[in-house]
Amino acid sequence: KHPLRLGVAGLGTVGAGLAILLRDNADLITARAGRPIQITAVAARDRTRDRGIDLSALRWHADAIDLASDPNVDVVVELIGGAEGKARELVEAALTAGKPVVTANKALLALHGERLSRLSAAHNAPLLFEAAVAGGIPAIKTVREGLAADRILSIGGILNGTCNYILTAMRETGRDFADVLKEAQDLGYAEADPTTDVDGFDAAHKLAILAALAFGKPVEFDSVHVEGIRSIGALDLGFARTLGYRIKLLGLARQSERGIDARVAPCLVPETAPIAQVDGVFNAVIAEGAFVGRLMIEGRGAGAGPTATAVAADIIDIARGKTIPVWGTYATDVTAVRSRPADEW
Ligand code: HSE
Repeated sequence: KHPLRLGVAGLGTVGAGLAILLRDNADLITARAGRPIQITAVAARDRTRDRGIDLSALRWHADAIDLASDPNVDVVVELIGGAEGKARELVEAALTAGKPVVTANKALLALHGERLSRLSAAHNAPLLFEAAVAGGIPAIKTVREGLAADRILSIGGILNGTCNYILTAMRETGRDFADVLKEAQDLGYAEADPTTDVDGFDAAHKLAILAALAFGKPVEFDSVHVEGIRSIGALDLGFARTLGYRIKLLGLARQSERGIDARVAPCLVPETAPIAQVDGVFNAVIAEGAFVGRLMIEGRGAGAGPTATAVAADIIDIARGKTIPVWGTYATDVTAVRSRPADEW
């Protein structure tokens, strides 16, 4: 069978991780996808950087947008990041051209989910984004497919690996914030601009996506209440410990008859609670459904390998011909809704 040809935009931590995963697991991926999957074109700034894999023989585009019109690209893989600029232009152009898109871009989905779901539906072009939420945890598939039959009452969890890594290291070793943040950046966990992580916005992007999947419509991002971890110091961590608690940055969204409540904030959790044991770069997604009850899945929330597996799983879905609407519902009304202010919870 002829290969599924990928055009990859962005060769940072995740892009390079994807190339390595597709190489190392080529046989099993071909078997599971029913055809080989090959990167044929790439767009990235630096052609000469050592990424641990030789990509020099591929077609290099100076402008990522050209991947959308490249006749030798079947699927556009957007790993540039950011809600605006090149990433958004490329995703919109590819969907408009009827090309399937796989992306890890949580900011883009959180801010423009309504528009993108309409474009995807109008042009019959799948838009998959498993890697956008909680790295290697199959969070999107769990909510959109695994819980497809249930009414979800609440969704959320530990959604930022960098913050969880920082809080864990500060608690366990007493190291200071800036020092641990630098380490998280060196490990490839943090966003290009790490304020997105530490001020809670990255977790809020992921929460907005989970809420949209759980409740069937996008949540207007500016209505999500967001607090980060900058104000948490050694004193807070010490008091929490004395009282038998841990501090975790949690994102939580729930739907009631009064509307949707979505917020991200540092929370005290009893140290005996399962979520309190989720440490380091690990994330946890918790959900409660009317029939399924409560569930929690845990795994690495950032980093090259885990995130690449999520991107590749979406690509395999496309190779298999699977299609699913962006927010998991075949209803045509995907109009965004607002979260209620946090002080009305
Ligand atoms: N910066 C993100 C995190 C990467 O730390 O969780 C994964 O989305």
